[in-house]
Amino acid sequence: MISVFGSKVGAEEIANVTAVLESQWMGFGKKVNEFEERFAERLGLDHFAMVDSGSNALYMAVSLLNLPKNSEIIVPAFTWVSCAQAVLLAGHTPVFCDVELDTLNVSRRTVENALTDRTRAIMIVHFAGKPVDMNPIMELGFPIIEDAAHAVDSYYYDQPCGGIGDVGIYSFDAVKNLTTGEGGGITTRDPVLIERAKILRYCGIGKSGFEAASASANGKNRWWEYNIQEPFIKMLPTNIAASIGLAQLEKLDSLQAFRKQIWDIYQSEFRDVSWIGCPPDAEEHEKHSYFTYVIRVPNRDKLAKYLFDADIYTTLRYHPLHLNPLYGSKANLPNCELLNEDSLSIPLHPNLTLDQVSMIVDKIKQFGK
Ligand SMILES: Cc1ncc(COP(=O)(O)O)c(C=O)c1O
Repeated sequence: MISVFGSKVGAEEIANVTAVLESQWMGFGKKVNEFEERFAERLGLDHFAMVDSGSNALYMAVSLLNLPKNSEIIVPAFTWVSCAQAVLLAGHTPVFCDVELDTLNVSRRTVENALTDRTRAIMIVHFAGKPVDMNPIMELGFPIIEDAAHAVDSYYYDQPCGGIGDVGIYSFDAVKNLTTGEGGGITTRDPVLIERAKILRYCGIGKSGFEAASASANGKNRWWEYNIQEPFIKMLPTNIAASIGLAQLEKLDSLQAFRKQIWDIYQSEFRDVSWIGCPPDAEEHEKHSYFTYVIRVPNRDKLAKYLFDADIYTTLRYHPLHLNPLYGSKANLPNCELLNEDSLSIPLHPNLTLDQVSMIVDKIKQFGK
């Protein structure tokens, strides 16, 4: 079965992990610091802190805003559940907004439709790595949480996606453009906030065994004592994950180039097929990350089953959140509801071969005949 999502690791990741295992320091340590520096440098971020998942980074991001309890935060309905869960866990209310049918991103229009007098922040998601048109949304004047889980190599007017709003997050899970197995990170331009993030991620203590050992080397007595700053859960990343990320960073350009190659093949093959709706390319002021290729088709379920029977796995990653009874939402979001019926992610990832891509194209085209 051909997978729909995926990452690619090789000898470099294996060598880095082996070196960490041989060092006997598998948990949080110097490799994390090194990954944080290199990642910030590669994307052009002011500050960056690694955590153990993108989902936890979202919860951290919402918490960092220090909003009054029960604030309403606007969240796109066409996204991963962690976006809404983070808002609820931080003691707030997600208010779902629609996305545009072409970009699958929120826009000023869809955000404005969800605003109320209790809105205190807006969460946006750069879907598939296509940058959200941030400027008109930022002009609304609310704090912005930027979910750049898909957008590790995306830019909007030369600014790195994730680093444009007040707080941004990344995901490095097993199928993301840059993987660490599981992992995530948080960025902000505010040096005080990033320091707080580093304290929070270790149960609100902000001092790991690794840092305590350095303190002892500097002649400090009773280095084991600490003041707990705030109650928080543990989100520490590991040297193992960071060492995988360091190898992935070295090859991010080539991984991205291959994703773009597949994307471009799909675009040129499907552009003139009347029954397939293709996603838009990046505009001139944007750089895309090509996390997933979503088509819109009339007989979506039948096409998915037909491809499944041909050993090609496809999926709809996001069941619109407002349709999930847990959130008790009464929102009417026609675009998300339409996408729930006609959109489908087809395989795009660096472990595909170009022969497989041709086979996928042929199969999809044959379905329409
Ligand atoms: C848009 C979006 N945000 C957040 C996440 C959560 O990231 P993680 O899997 O690292 O927890 C995902 C994961 O798929 C995602 O797609």
